[in-house]
Amino acid sequence: MGKFPEGFIWGTATAAHQVEGNNTSNDFWLMEHTEPTMFKEPSGDACDQFHLYEQDVRLLKELGFNAYRFSVEWARVEPEKGEVSNAALEHYRRMTAFVREQGLTPIVTLHHFTSPLWFAREGGFAAEDGPAHFANYAGIMADVLGKDWGQVCTINEINIPMRFFHDGMLGDQARLAPFLKAAQKRCGSDDFSSFFIGDIEGAAEGMKKGHRLAVEAIRARAPETPVGVTLAIQDEQAIEGGEALRDAARARCIDAFLDITKGDDFVGVQTYSRSIYGPEGKLKVSDDVEKTQMGYEFYPEALEATIRYTADYTGLPVIVTESGIGTDDDTRRRAYVERALKGVQNCLADGIDVRGYCYWSMLDNFEWMLGYKPTFGLIAVDRITQTRTVKPSAQWLGNIAKANAF
Ligand code: BGC
Repeated sequence: MGKFPEGFIWGTATAAHQVEGNNTSNDFWLMEHTEPTMFKEPSGDACDQFHLYEQDVRLLKELGFNAYRFSVEWARVEPEKGEVSNAALEHYRRMTAFVREQGLTPIVTLHHFTSPLWFAREGGFAAEDGPAHFANYAGIMADVLGKDWGQVCTINEINIPMRFFHDGMLGDQARLAPFLKAAQKRCGSDDFSSFFIGDIEGAAEGMKKGHRLAVEAIRARAPETPVGVTLAIQDEQAIEGGEALRDAARARCIDAFLDITKGDDFVGVQTYSRSIYGPEGKLKVSDDVEKTQMGYEFYPEALEATIRYTADYTGLPVIVTESGIGTDDDTRRRAYVERALKGVQNCLADGIDVRGYCYWSMLDNFEWMLGYKPTFGLIAVDRITQTRTVKPSAQWLGNIAKANAF
């Protein structure tokens, strides 16, 4: 049985918009309600974690986890520009303190895909003052949560819009144009720019600036807080002749974002599968391999490769802020995590500084454009009654967390 280092973080992860429910003041809520819309269904009540967080955190504690990674919703905190909701701040203060009281470390993400509608309407991170608005919000959160939070992730998967943009994972820009138009029309602004849609290149630069400014703002108010940013990193492989394209994609969509982590305390790695490049570009996932609900190849070994790549590139400690699988077969979830954790142990054995592992996700939740169909959760959620049902994989992973060994 392999022991993990003392103090190893064993967490599960969620994001506010995917679990809280009724986040009506943000840009995604608007896009979920346009005609046409790129969303299969609206987020609605989600898992109502806004009200049920105590029950959820208690469950995590009982299962054996020692950390909970969740995000705070900027649109609740600042529903209109410059108008801060003290009730929302108080909610997140209570919640973060509650996670602490239960003996778990709160790992707080400040931006997980969604932005306040006023911010998106003005051009989001692509707007000139976008990064400064974000840093201002980061400072507000540091004032309120700074004494209780453990680690802070500024922006979740800061590089993923760029990846989607270049991979055409959401379809090409022509397919997305009607959705952007519908969002612009609904909010009455041609400048509308959201995380996955709008001025992607401009927003990428704005997010890089926003991250650095947010780190400064947090350090000025809560200097002890370890701060980092998270990246979506698949294991980028190449068959003969595909190396140059793979390297170019990596430079644009990963390295360019790892470059802004200089001076941070850690990097968050989020890995789900691998990509393979050939001489013509990225290969389609072969018909012969097992696939997850997302259509990704079942390939948990990717995590070991991405941890090694990130640690080597940045020289920073790594936290696995997301690793997981969308599947309706819970035995495959366990098999996936088992193999992913072996990869973590191999990295640790080689002296790589991996600080923790957060499974995505705690709950079956709102999987963005795909609605509620994909099920990543360790815990199932009844969409009407909000009843939580713990899956065997949750017990299994919780026991590993308790033993700090597997
Ligand atoms: C995101 C999550 C998402 C998960 C599974 C990550 O890209 O951070 O919000 O639900 O992957 O697709």
